Amino acid sequence: MHAWLCETLDGVDALSWKALPTPEPQAGEVRIAIRAASLNFPDLLIVQGKYQFKPALPFVPGSEFAGTVEAVGEGVSHLQVGAPVAVIAGTGGFATHACVNAAQVLPLPPGFALEHGAAFAFTYGTSHHALIDRAQLKAGETVLVLGAAGGVGTAALQIAKAAGARVIAAASTAQKCALCKELGADATINYGSDNLRESLKALTEGKGPDVVYDPVGGDLAEPAFRSIAWRGRYLVVGFAAGGIPALPWNLALLKGASVVGVFWGDYVKREPRANAAAMQQLAQWYAQGLVRPVIDQTMPMSEIRAAYARMGSRQVQGKLLLVNPQ
Ligand SMILES: NC(=O)c1ccc[n+]([C@@H]2O[C@H](COP(=O)([O-])OP(=O)(O)OC[C@H]3O[C@@H](n4cnc5c(N)ncnc54)[C@H](OP(=O)(O)O)[C@@H]3O)[C@@H](O)[C@H]2O)c1
Repeated sequence: MHAWLCETLDGVDALSWKALPTPEPQAGEVRIAIRAASLNFPDLLIVQGKYQFKPALPFVPGSEFAGTVEAVGEGVSHLQVGAPVAVIAGTGGFATHACVNAAQVLPLPPGFALEHGAAFAFTYGTSHHALIDRAQLKAGETVLVLGAAGGVGTAALQIAKAAGARVIAAASTAQKCALCKELGADATINYGSDNLRESLKALTEGKGPDVVYDPVGGDLAEPAFRSIAWRGRYLVVGFAAGGIPALPWNLALLKGASVVGVFWGDYVKREPRANAAAMQQLAQWYAQGLVRPVIDQTMPMSEIRAAYARMGSRQVQGKLLLVNPQ
């Protein structure tokens, strides 16, 4: 097998494509022949030691991937050789093969494209947990999605629409706003050129959004929170802009509003049954065409540096895939 190996925490430039012994699955594991892996923002952070999960060195990055089961370890009966599967393992995806715990493997239902399987659970799982579970979003409510053309952003937009909400999608360029319109956003705000607060006032007749979905943080957070509606829920999803915002607490008091944390990785571990039910609803929505990963680009696995550069410079729209030759 081959894999991008991270031996020091010096970012993507320090990764090297290494030939490694193909591992045999241990008891409770399966070996996957990886077809595609998608890039998630934490993949950028983990190779710099800046993500909350810090694997021991050396490790193979790549949090999310899909492929077919190639070998099955002792005690695994629910997965057969040849089955198409998706995996969220935190690491291991930027490779040709990986051995993973069978519990981390999601069998893909018939009709679920393998490439979509590599670009689904992380972003759609996060956004479903955020909007449906943490924010208790109701049909007819208004949701503001920041960074709406990104990975979790496009998923949030589609999930909010599937739940019957009105979506205001906000992003940094006209091109990203146009993509959000194509994906069904009711309105868009280009915060690269327009004032976020004024635009939100105009679009909500002064009331503000009921739910704010924020994977960006930085300078956007305070104006977005200041705009929130009475009894609003502000979803703290991530800090792609780099800065962790601080908030004057009186703003929460004045709006009767809640700051709601979202940590999908821990939710999966702590509440596996609730997560499984969410995944089932997402698979149904996928089958109905209500949610569908937006594929920005499909690049060969060898182009990992170009892929990281594209995400680091805010160019990715939806999800970027790295694929192995078939
Ligand atoms: N809480 C959780 O459980 C959870 C789960 C998954 C991901 N996350 C977090 O969610 C965030 C987004 O992840 P993602 O995979 O969706 O990433 P992504 O596809 O790169 O989207 C991030 C968006 O943030 C905006 N952005 C603003 N400043 C940026 C900067 N300096 N660099 C890069 N992007 C910037 C960009 O939109 P504009 O150009 O339109 O501003 C971009 O589309 C990350 O912080 C990630 O760690 C959290």
